[in-house]
Amino acid sequence: MQRIILDTDPGVDDALAIALALNSSGLKVEAITTVNGNVGVDYCTRNLSLILSAMGNVSVPIVAEGESQPLSVSIVNASHVHGSDGLGGVTQLRDANGNQCYLDMLLPSVTTGAVDVVLELVTRYPGQVVLLCIGPLTNIAKAVLKCPIGMKKTKGIVLMGGAFEVYGNVTLSAEFNVYADPHAAQIVFDSGIPITIVPLDVTHQVLLNAREFEKLCVRHGGQWGKFLSDCTKVCFEFHRYHEGLDGFYLHDPVAVGYLEYPGFFDTVPAYVQVEINDGLTRGRTVADLRADRIDGPEPNAQVCVGINTSQFLDYFLDCIFASA
Ligand code: RIB
Ligand code: CA
Repeated sequence: MQRIILDTDPGVDDALAIALALNSSGLKVEAITTVNGNVGVDYCTRNLSLILSAMGNVSVPIVAEGESQPLSVSIVNASHVHGSDGLGGVTQLRDANGNQCYLDMLLPSVTTGAVDVVLELVTRYPGQVVLLCIGPLTNIAKAVLKCPIGMKKTKGIVLMGGAFEVYGNVTLSAEFNVYADPHAAQIVFDSGIPITIVPLDVTHQVLLNAREFEKLCVRHGGQWGKFLSDCTKVCFEFHRYHEGLDGFYLHDPVAVGYLEYPGFFDTVPAYVQVEINDGLTRGRTVADLRADRIDGPEPNAQVCVGINTSQFLDYFLDCIFASA
């Protein structure tokens, strides 16, 4: 059983990834930490609480709120994709009596912030904890800056982010998580911690079909089926209207899939750098992924370049509905 800390900015695809991680038998979620990203970190923490509540019988790990600002660039968000509340507008849904359809659960109070929870757990379990990062890397970079030696006890980092041989999704050059805090990404890539990057190059091969998913939500029924249907509608509509797609990409769940089933993926070692300067290429991830390259700097990451999409989708659809 792999011990993980899930660092997240929920976020609709984050919601699916959180449920996937909690339902995956090979993963032990020691903590879930929130970070500013798709929406403000306060909304992310509220959304996490809503997701855990909608899942029903889930053993709640430690929850800790993280950084509210990137290290130095100005804040960007993705509320146009995920809804103004970051969760497809479910917080505004009311029943016939005018009551909120979804209530957030009372989370066990944790006064410690995300950075210190990460440091505490990686030192409590040296060489055993993988950081699964599905939002901007601000929390992890702050932990590395605060205690670089302590963070070397991390077993590894699996992060959804970057775009190498495909266009970005926030600019032509950059993927959102890296664009939102490029300095944090560079600090993490330079940290010496073993890193696996799950970039748009593979997540753009995994589209969740809107019609199929809606049918599965109705068939599953219950509070969780209704929540999944309600929270994904805005995201489906955004991608249909703006990108002419019949669904949206499962960016964050694919990163969970790498941890549970690495055999579904092809990876190459590479030396990855980030453009930290503002302008046209801010947040671009740069690496030589050619298998036949013969020289160049020591690799600092494994980069996922291929995925068995159908195997991943079978796992995802089995596991996402395993909740109540
Ligand atoms: O580029 C996709 C990433 O940005 C995902 O993590 C999504 O949730 C957004 O945060
Ligand atoms: Ca995310």
